[in-house]
Amino acid sequence: MLAIGLLMKEHRLIERMIKLIDKEVQEMKGGKPPDGDFIDTAVDFIKMYADRCHHGKEEDILFRDLGKKNLSPEHKSTMEQLIKGHIWGRETVRKLVDARSRYVQGDQKARDEIIGQLEKLVKFYPPHIEKEDKHFFLPCMDYFTGEEKEAMLKECYDFDQKLIHEKYKAVVEKYEEGG
Ligand SMILES: [Fe+2]
Ligand SMILES: [Fe+2]
Repeated sequence: MLAIGLLMKEHRLIERMIKLIDKEVQEMKGGKPPDGDFIDTAVDFIKMYADRCHHGKEEDILFRDLGKKNLSPEHKSTMEQLIKGHIWGRETVRKLVDARSRYVQGDQKARDEIIGQLEKLVKFYPPHIEKEDKHFFLPCMDYFTGEEKEAMLKECYDFDQKLIHEKYKAVVEKYEEGG
């Protein structure tokens, strides 16, 4: 198993969630009121799984180690685009959360913004994932020795292991600080 094998497996679950979000978006466009529980679930999935857990391992382990290598100009530029995509995704989720709270407070106009931000995320993930799966991860493995690949995989497991603790510590702290 390689670290990129783990990351590709995570891509498959992200794709499944994106499909569900797309379905919800189409229904909302057809007039269905926003389903607050679904939006919260989608936000939590994107924030915690797609961003913290998945992009976290890409940035803090794979991209960090690739950054120490003498990358071809093409790979260097792809990696920069991928990182920019992650930053853009975080900003989009922030706007989505903001629109969701305005909607809950009675701002009816926020409904269109919720749809718009969700739709942007639905459009962002498939090409981002395809670029990584088909044009980046595999060729990039050639920069690493067997030992380096093993160390990356181990670090990925350690990273995942800490996440659930990090998540629920943050939940408790949020409410200790008054929500
Ligand atoms: Fe990525
Ligand atoms: Fe990815």
